[in-house]
Amino acid sequence: MENVIILDHPLIQHKISMLRDKNTGTNEFRTLVEEIAMLEAFEALRDLPTEDVKVETPLTTCMSPMIAGKKLAIVPILRAGLGMVSGITNLVPTAKVGHIGLYRDPETHLPHEYYCKLPDPISERTILVLDPMLATGGSASEAIGFIKDHGGKKIKFMCVIAAPEGLNKLHDDHPDVQIYVGHLDEKLNENAYILPGLGDAGDRIFGTK
Ligand code: PRP
Ligand code: URA
Repeated sequence: MENVIILDHPLIQHKISMLRDKNTGTNEFRTLVEEIAMLEAFEALRDLPTEDVKVETPLTTCMSPMIAGKKLAIVPILRAGLGMVSGITNLVPTAKVGHIGLYRDPETHLPHEYYCKLPDPISERTILVLDPMLATGGSASEAIGFIKDHGGKKIKFMCVIAAPEGLNKLHDDHPDVQIYVGHLDEKLNENAYILPGLGDAGDRIFGTK
């Protein structure tokens, strides 16, 4: 599928296996999500713009590339996307951070927005939308729709685990968006949870269950 990148690096796969384990506690789970986000971002930010700056080495002066300032915005989808933020700000400390609050209705599984605050202006930035779980795809698709309504153009989406249903929906709704996936799982269950998955990402990151 064009614009879909499955990140099959052994380090990412190893850490996802640890995340899946029901015996992995909150503290370790959080650290793993951060580390996976960092490893995924290494690939997803491959085309981040750079600019040549003058550097004095101990021997001479040269022009050398650095990340161009103020070009990256990351937008976690609350709550679970928050767990991925620090992994990326550790790599790109100048990134601006927006937030979109969405929760899935437990009956209909449809997303409901409760918060949206984005860096302004957003149109010139690369925007990396974060959510560990892409299940039905409703939350990610809605969030990206909001960002486009606010003027966002160059949008990427990064998740840890995707279900085929969600990946297809997101790709169909937003074919222009590059989608980075840590692992493509089998399917959704009757409650729209990913199988084999890792359970409820928000609850496992924040220790709420
Ligand atoms: C989870 C997850 C995604 C969404 C994925 O959030 O973090 O945002 O479900 O499901 P979808 O692809 O079917 O929309 P949840 O609604 O449980 O909220 P939370 O992060 O606040 O726990
Ligand atoms: N949200 C989660 O946190 N996990 C799933 O499996 C599906 C949606």
